[in-house]
Amino acid sequence: MFDSLPVLPPDSILGLAAACRADPNPDKVDLTLGVYMDETGLCPVFESVQQAQRELVSDEKTKVYMPPIGDAAYLSGIRSLVLGADLESRFGNRVTAVQTPGGCGAVRLGAEVLHAAAPGTTVWISDPTWPVHIPLMGSVGLQFRTYRYYSPQLKGLDFDAMLADLEEAAPGDVVLLHGCCHNPSGADPSAQQWQQLAELLVERQLLPMIDFAYQGMGAGLEEDAQGLRSIMGSVPEMIIAVSSSKNIGLYRERAGAVIFIGGDDRAAEAMASQAVAAARRVYSMPPAHGALLAGRVLSSPELRQAWVLELEQICGRINGLRASFRDALATATGRDFDFIGRENGMFSFLGLSVEQAQRLRSEKSVYMLDSSRINIAGLNAGNLSRVVDAVVSVL
Ligand SMILES: Cc1ncc(COP(=O)(O)O)c(C=O)c1O
Repeated sequence: MFDSLPVLPPDSILGLAAACRADPNPDKVDLTLGVYMDETGLCPVFESVQQAQRELVSDEKTKVYMPPIGDAAYLSGIRSLVLGADLESRFGNRVTAVQTPGGCGAVRLGAEVLHAAAPGTTVWISDPTWPVHIPLMGSVGLQFRTYRYYSPQLKGLDFDAMLADLEEAAPGDVVLLHGCCHNPSGADPSAQQWQQLAELLVERQLLPMIDFAYQGMGAGLEEDAQGLRSIMGSVPEMIIAVSSSKNIGLYRERAGAVIFIGGDDRAAEAMASQAVAAARRVYSMPPAHGALLAGRVLSSPELRQAWVLELEQICGRINGLRASFRDALATATGRDFDFIGRENGMFSFLGLSVEQAQRLRSEKSVYMLDSSRINIAGLNAGNLSRVVDAVVSVL
């Protein structure tokens, strides 16, 4: 049966990370993956999560299946974190949530619910977007159109072009937005632009789906949620895909949640029930460990406070690296790299050609995506000047 089954190439991003691992150059630098790394190049476990893990290991009495909807403490913690107390109490049972295997699982279950409600509906995605959105949502049967987003000329968001493209969307179309720290560009709408987007969504009866994978990695937990919350305050229905991979550091544990906002309590319940049924068709129950850890961190005042401090330090370090990298590039080249400081989160486009990005890999062992997207958190005091020299050499 499988004799002629084609062997597929590795995922483009994961493939580059593997190429970097195989590179014997001791001075190689991996800026490919969207993973936070500390000064030593390690993606660390948060101290607060380690504490929760010690407690969980000594308290855990069973490994019985999780409830299909997920862990109650985790879901309640994530809802408050994302929505904030005001919206949570205002929307009450119009909000439901289902635990998922990571943010990918959340995007997928969100897409399944969209497809169940409106088969083959059109989803507007930013150009560019995180490439995995396409297989995650497209394989459900949804259609895509793109709206202009990042402009290489402006080195930032082209908001007028974005609005002009979304003006063409038909009522009932879905608009996929990145809640903060846009992947791959790092360019986010301003507070005023979020408000304008909310008005456009209402006016044209478009349904927002927000991919929220980086809360707390840009400007802070509250600040990063403002755009999403201004949309939620305006529209009748919405879907939010949340990841706990980055901001709680649970990457391999696969913890995430999809939040549904329905026009009324019944609709919200229906959306969650469809998500649970879609999960049953594929993997049945969500994984336990990561969500149980995050649930403990978010529900314990001490652990939560410790986690918030750790996340603030991470956010501060990323923003410090942005500033150092921007200044070092500007000094070395005499060119303007201010856009690096204006972006949010871990990613930045350096504005290099595919050929330049490939030369950086083959000649300098500095690994970035062909689009010249880099993970700022892959920089550190030991490699920053090497990366700057390498970039200058291909400019
Ligand atoms: C924009 C975006 N959405 C969703 C995810 C999914 O994250 P995970 O499934 O690892 O939680 C990622 C991860 O890189 C991402 O960058």
